[in-house]
Amino acid sequence: LLALTSYMVNAQTKIIAHRGFSGIAPENSLSAFEKAIEIGAEYFELDIHKTKDDSLVVIHDAAVDRTASENAKGKIAEMTYKELSAVNIGNPSKFGDQFKDEKIITLREALALAKGKIKVCIEIKVYGAEEEVIRTINELGVNDEVIIFSFYYPVLAKIRSLDKNIPILYLISAADATTFDYANVIHANAIGVGSKTNITKEFLAEAHQAGLEVWRWTVDEEEQMKELIGLGIDGLISNFPDKAMKIKKEM
Ligand code: G3P
Ligand code: CA
Repeated sequence: LLALTSYMVNAQTKIIAHRGFSGIAPENSLSAFEKAIEIGAEYFELDIHKTKDDSLVVIHDAAVDRTASENAKGKIAEMTYKELSAVNIGNPSKFGDQFKDEKIITLREALALAKGKIKVCIEIKVYGAEEEVIRTINELGVNDEVIIFSFYYPVLAKIRSLDKNIPILYLISAADATTFDYANVIHANAIGVGSKTNITKEFLAEAHQAGLEVWRWTVDEEEQMKELIGLGIDGLISNFPDKAMKIKKEM
């Protein structure tokens, strides 16, 4: 309880680099994570899926098609780690040849890079990865440097059953008062809401009253950043964390 309580004390908005600093580097790539570290963001966020041979890899979609540079196709769950690790994700149509060697990485590699430098939001996009996620975190000794995200409530319930202290954020697009109850059942620390949730001072106060922080994804417009930071949002997730950090500093 003590650990959870101290986590909740929040004076300032935390700025999170969405899929790494993905405004200037390929999403969910080592370079995007390095760039988040370089600007001193407090966290980067990443998404994970599980390969056919049970490796946890960092990628948003359930298939490689959208983010692969070279016409690679295939579902992550049907590909081996070896096959996936050969897929290039340099996104030349957006970034030219700047990131021509960029490859899909594992959760372990991302956490090893981050250790001691930045905290990591691990969004679990798949069922059946919970034990391996906790094992990886424990092996690297980064329990105090991560927070687990998911839209899948049973995934978060399982994470909580495996680890009673690890910070959890329950992702939900349109939150309402019942969300707080659900979040509390699994002792979540925060909820992560999207644009369908109307964030007001009252909403934030109610969440805080229920012992929950409120983080908002994914905010790239400066006006909106100002408004949310002004309201006292607890976490702001952006593809351009540099802009949000600057705004926060000037407020
Ligand atoms: O951080 C939450 C946000 O990343 C959820 O949406 O689609 O970007 O994973 P998505
Ligand atoms: Ca995500």
